[in-house]
Amino acid sequence: MLLALTTQTSIGIVLLVIAFAVAIVYGLVNLRQGRAEVGSEIELAPNRRPYLSDSELEGRKLDRTLSLGLLGLFVIGIGLPLYWLQEPSRQSNEKGNIQRKFIERGEQAFAPTADGGFNCAFCHGTGGIGGVTPYTITDAEGRFVKEVQWQGPALNTVLLRYTRDEVRYVLEYGRPFSPMPAWGAKGGGPLTEQSLQNLIDYIDSIQLTKEEAQDAAAAQLAKMMKAKDPTCVAARTEAARAGLSGDELDSFDPASVDVESCPQQWKSEGEALFNMGYDDGFAGGAYSCGRCHTQGWSYGEKGPDGGGAFGPSLRNITDQFPGGSVGLEQQVDFVCQGSAQGVRYGRSGMGTGRMPGFCITPETKLNAENGEVGITPKDSGLASDGAMLTQEMVRSIVEYERSLSR
Ligand code: HEC
Ligand code: HEC
Repeated sequence: MLLALTTQTSIGIVLLVIAFAVAIVYGLVNLRQGRAEVGSEIELAPNRRPYLSDSELEGRKLDRTLSLGLLGLFVIGIGLPLYWLQEPSRQSNEKGNIQRKFIERGEQAFAPTADGGFNCAFCHGTGGIGGVTPYTITDAEGRFVKEVQWQGPALNTVLLRYTRDEVRYVLEYGRPFSPMPAWGAKGGGPLTEQSLQNLIDYIDSIQLTKEEAQDAAAAQLAKMMKAKDPTCVAARTEAARAGLSGDELDSFDPASVDVESCPQQWKSEGEALFNMGYDDGFAGGAYSCGRCHTQGWSYGEKGPDGGGAFGPSLRNITDQFPGGSVGLEQQVDFVCQGSAQGVRYGRSGMGTGRMPGFCITPETKLNAENGEVGITPKDSGLASDGAMLTQEMVRSIVEYERSLSR
């Protein structure tokens, strides 16, 4: 155990042990002297004992006292400034320690150990990489409609598209009509401000860089653009199986079916990006638009793209951002920045901060909230290197959205 201690703590412990030893020896010596005194206090009483002579007092004894004083002065004169020099780094170390402790607590709350926790990982995946959760859909009267498997979005990009405050809001109140419960006291949940803070600190610690996020999105996009229309693939597979005998069916490999001439599943990059993760649960749908803007998207029963769900319908989006290329640019800006609480957008939009920003990092978004960057103008300080998605990706999504009919 001693080995694990810092040098300072070890020195401290050694000094403490020495001090104890000295105290014990002093006590023992005193005891012995006290015993010898019994019955002879007339000679030995301190006030009757002759003290040192003047020459003795002014000689070695004085020198010793003065030297000790000088030594003390050195200790104070050098020790204190040294301590003072060390203090800032000690404080910043301590700050790092506390930050680490917060992240650790958030991590424990996120994926509970044996002693229990809140289990965000159950729905959002271990390490927040996305997952899936059973959920019961009910009607307006709370009656059972059906049991579904709902995608839990990955949280390792959430701070690339939301500010900390916006994430805190989601944690505080949850997401209505979805499996995400309210966790904060304000939303009727069990967690304190401090626990929410710790959770956000933990989420902060698992964030991808924007380059990593863009690379992941690009790879998934490439994969989706190769996918063939599932209905066509299913029909071809069925036809290939039809003529086979029992044994042949057992060794049948679906990958061997020729689907080359089937149409592409996703007609454009915009459509694929809008629906990123719909088929294979990539990142729990975190990169998609459909999970908020299309009814049933999160549990594999999506209605018409952009038909409206938690986010409004996008099927008449040219009303909100009218005019050919001007409207398109304004819409790209909006999707890049996301909405901000109380900031207006488009022709009649009022933001709530729930629409994430896809190619602007939250710092830039915060500036927009403070009124330093306008929402509409094309040259509003857009980070052309993107955030979670690149600006090109957002542009193709916007083109897709504007092509959707009512
Ligand atoms: C019962 C499942 C479940 C649990 C438990 C859960 N979540 Fe969620 N959470 C979800 C779902 C599902 C969504 C997405 C909702 C939607 O489809 O709009 C979500 C959304 C979120 C979002 C917003 C992400 C975004 O990009 O929209 C955050 C942040 C979040 N959860 C954090 C947490 C944290 C932190 C915990 C643990 C304290 C937690 N969640 C526990 C299911 C869950
Ligand atoms: C976490 C949920 C969520 C996701 C994911 C999401 N949005 Fe939104 N979106 C919203 C909400 C909510 C609004 C309404 C504005 C507000 O409340 O601030 C909105 C508004 C919009 C609007 C303006 C609609 C109008 O008529 O006012 C557009 C355009 C839009 N989103 C596009 C997108 C695109 C493109 C993506 C994907 C790259 C996307 N959204 C992903 C929630 C979401």
